[in-house]
Amino acid sequence: MSLQLQPDYRGVYHFSPSRSWMNDPNGMVYLDGEYHLFFQHHPHGDTWGPMHWGHAITRDLVHWEELPIALEPDEQGTIFSGSAVVDWQNTTGFFPEEPGLVAIFTHHDEQPDHPVRQSQSLAYSHDRGRTWHKYQGNPVLTCDYRPDFRDPKVFWHESSGRWTMVLACGQSIALYHSPDLKNWTESSIFGEGIGCHDGVWECPDLFELPINNAPELSRWVMLVSIGDNGQGAEGSRTQYFTGHFDGAIFLPDEASRQVRWLDHGRDNYAGVSWSDIPQQDGRRLYIGWMSNWRYANHTPTGSWRGAMTIVRELQLEMTPTGVQLLQCPVDEMESIRRPVLLLEHAPLVQVQQAIKELRLESYELIVRMDKEVSFELQVRAGTASCTRIGVNAGSAQLYIDRTESGQSDFHNDFANHHTAPLQTIQEERELRILVDAASVEVFADQGRTVMTDLVFPEPNADRIRLTAMEQDIVVCRVEIYDLSGSVS
Ligand code: FRU
Repeated sequence: MSLQLQPDYRGVYHFSPSRSWMNDPNGMVYLDGEYHLFFQHHPHGDTWGPMHWGHAITRDLVHWEELPIALEPDEQGTIFSGSAVVDWQNTTGFFPEEPGLVAIFTHHDEQPDHPVRQSQSLAYSHDRGRTWHKYQGNPVLTCDYRPDFRDPKVFWHESSGRWTMVLACGQSIALYHSPDLKNWTESSIFGEGIGCHDGVWECPDLFELPINNAPELSRWVMLVSIGDNGQGAEGSRTQYFTGHFDGAIFLPDEASRQVRWLDHGRDNYAGVSWSDIPQQDGRRLYIGWMSNWRYANHTPTGSWRGAMTIVRELQLEMTPTGVQLLQCPVDEMESIRRPVLLLEHAPLVQVQQAIKELRLESYELIVRMDKEVSFELQVRAGTASCTRIGVNAGSAQLYIDRTESGQSDFHNDFANHHTAPLQTIQEERELRILVDAASVEVFADQGRTVMTDLVFPEPNADRIRLTAMEQDIVVCRVEIYDLSGSVS
């Protein structure tokens, strides 16, 4: 009997839990050479359920090690999203001997005898996140009149010398401050009349970034994820605002009057940034959940479900229309490259010939083309399917078409074609694409336009194709790296 083996779809260089369900990244914090990633986890099922915090670490932002579950539900509820910080100055009193980690998370309490209650609680660890103690005084922040009251992201605000929390409350973000993580005072509320209000606001983040890498000029960036309301094509997605923050109030820039999306693909949600990255590094590192609430519970992955994006670096750039967020793979991703192909100023036919020979499933593909050229890359292409990633030069649009990308019948809204505006400043346009077992991440023009999509290719769909409107064009540059070999 011949068995057609179904692919497992587990990414080679993406984090996914060894088994069971995962959604949002939580509590990302750096301490003593380890980047922690906690995550929304239902260990007893492959769909969303009573939430725990799963735990993984990486030392190089590429290779992940999963650790035992960090936080389990208790009498106050299940453990929803939140953040973690290093309490360097022992403001909490939890760390008389040496600094340690504090997790600030939402207790979600759902019982038949009362309406849903969400409140903020603390847990702390003296051993680099391996074991945790829930704080006896939990919860530390409650609200009687806000049913959606969750996802605390906390950071130390240097100039006011206190902690700041951003918290999702219905369709706004409440800002709080505290001297000790235990006593919180509301400072302001943000969101009314600005941004997209298509769904519930979730998983906010707030951080400062230099503009064009010049430390004397900076802005604050607010990330806000928006839940799926069941309407429209997009499902859940993340918007961002830029502005000023004085320790109490976030004042958005004029450019933020227009809705701006962090990622124009369908599958990058609930992402936030790492806390306590050492100053000499100075980067703002980000990771997102690579799925969409529209179909997250139905993706065809078997005994595990849910993966994260690769780790990305966020930067700000000044543009004629205001300050804008850029997103690129962290440099560490280059450490697992195995060079496969490099061609410069090559006629299209020559590139087509060269890539015809390749058989790759997890790889990086960089293509540079003249700005006037419309072209299409087909990745994870098999006999009857492929994922199309293309540029329409006339309308300056990037697209991903996954209508024929492989398995898509698990949900009606999965097989689609979607676009994003391109902002190519140079004469040459660059697409940098990271392809893995079940995903494509497209960074156009040095991270000015980003699209992240899940795809579920047919078995052995491992070919790459390149086509263009005009046959007699020259490809400025094509680089391909195998990323499958060096990740343990
Ligand atoms: C976002 C979210 C959060 C919540 C968590 C529950 O995806 O809905 O708002 O804390 O997931 O798992």
